[in-house]
Amino acid sequence: MTGYDWIVLTLGFVHDLSVAVYVGGAVAMEFVLAPAQASIPPAQAQIMGEKTSNRFLVLVWSSLALILITGVLRLQMNGMLNSDGLSMADSYGRTLWTMFFLWVVLAINGGLITFIFRPTLQGKLQPGSNQALVTRDRDAKMKAATWIQHLTRADLVLAIIVTLLGASLSRGGLF
Ligand code: HEM
Repeated sequence: MTGYDWIVLTLGFVHDLSVAVYVGGAVAMEFVLAPAQASIPPAQAQIMGEKTSNRFLVLVWSSLALILITGVLRLQMNGMLNSDGLSMADSYGRTLWTMFFLWVVLAINGGLITFIFRPTLQGKLQPGSNQALVTRDRDAKMKAATWIQHLTRADLVLAIIVTLLGASLSRGGLF
């Protein structure tokens, strides 16, 4: 294999591995962690949710970044960025733009979880807070946890759709 072939192989390898980490992580959250969490007392479930989402988010952001970087570099290596390879007039371009759009949605969802819902979940009450504050804090945390669960589920469905679109690229695109 030439040096060029090795680069193309490495980019494809890292792209696919990152996709596997993203999709595998979302599957594990949905089908392994969520049922386990539902079967333990709420106070413990909250701590477990906090710890696992911290670690999960590291995986989410690293894999999303690697998917984008290797994806764009693959296009560059294929000569697609220099020509009209990404035109909406052909199936390859339409499929790729859809993949990019869905990647942006995954990144926005990751941002909502990281910067809005997770901080709510981790917020600590001042000592001596009154009952009304305690109740409001608990309700906000339950709402945030539900949002995280919905977004993670939506991300899983979207990532599976992008995986199908990506796989279709070798046949010229899906639609
Ligand atoms: C950020 C936008 C993305 C870009 C620019 C991109 C780019 C690419 C490119 C250039 C290919 C090779 C296509 C070919 O053989 O002609 C590919 C394949 C693929 N992509 Fe992506 N991709 C992106 C996002 C994603 C995401 C988010 C996923 C899934 C979660 C994904 C999953 C796949 C799969 C499964 C393949 C087929 C296997 C392979 O050839 O590696 N891609 N992608």
